[in-house]
Amino acid sequence: MADARKPVIAANWKMHHDHLVAIQAVQKLSYTLEPSDYDTCDIVVCPAFTAIRSIQNLLEGDRIPLLLGAQNCHWDDQGAYTGEVAPPMLARMNVSYVIVGHSERRQLFGETDDTVNKKARAVLKHEMKPIVCVGETLDEREAGATDDRVSTQTRAAFAGIKSPEAEHCVVAYEPIWAIGTGRNATPDDANATIGVIRRVLRELYGEVADVMRIQYGGSVKPGNIADLMAMPEIDGALVGGASLDPADFSRIVRFRA
Ligand code: PGA
Repeated sequence: MADARKPVIAANWKMHHDHLVAIQAVQKLSYTLEPSDYDTCDIVVCPAFTAIRSIQNLLEGDRIPLLLGAQNCHWDDQGAYTGEVAPPMLARMNVSYVIVGHSERRQLFGETDDTVNKKARAVLKHEMKPIVCVGETLDEREAGATDDRVSTQTRAAFAGIKSPEAEHCVVAYEPIWAIGTGRNATPDDANATIGVIRRVLRELYGEVADVMRIQYGGSVKPGNIADLMAMPEIDGALVGGASLDPADFSRIVRFRA
């Protein structure tokens, strides 16, 4: 992690934690974390849509400086899209971050590079920050296609996004074979691929790329976070499974301890 970039560690709760459990999890997390943790790291929780309003009330009522995130959104402001959630609806609940293009959405729900780009732009339009996910499959890695794959995904996701906005974007490099499998990329491999992503961002945005934060995601745990964060290119983590337990997630946030 470079000094210029404040780490961003995000909990992706996926389809876990109903709103009551989510409230308990945030309360536990807030008891464990110290004010200094929030100074050294942007700490984000991304609950299911049904819990966002409850968590907003809790964070604002108790003045907890956790940042609120969503796991997805549509790209239009409103419309006849049964079951979808619009970016302004999230912005009204003081959502700060929106995950876009998670591999589960790409693989299971048909998201394409084009829809990921539309979503990232819509999130920025409503003054939230997209967490743009990119990553290769195991076949692609074994075929030596990782760099091409993440470069293509990154270029596509940022099409039409200008430098002042790009600065607010976070990229999450998540090798698909490492998600939920217990098999994480080695810190060196993750650092190398994130370096490739940053080179693409540098082509697009020049030195702005040096302040853009790029996370690693895929089986991040209390036991491996410190080695990942020791890498110069890795600016944080997107954490699935291990974020469901507030004790584990706070140990991840406190990777320096
Ligand atoms: P995991 O998920 O930490 O459970 O591997 C990461 C993610 O999907 O963002």
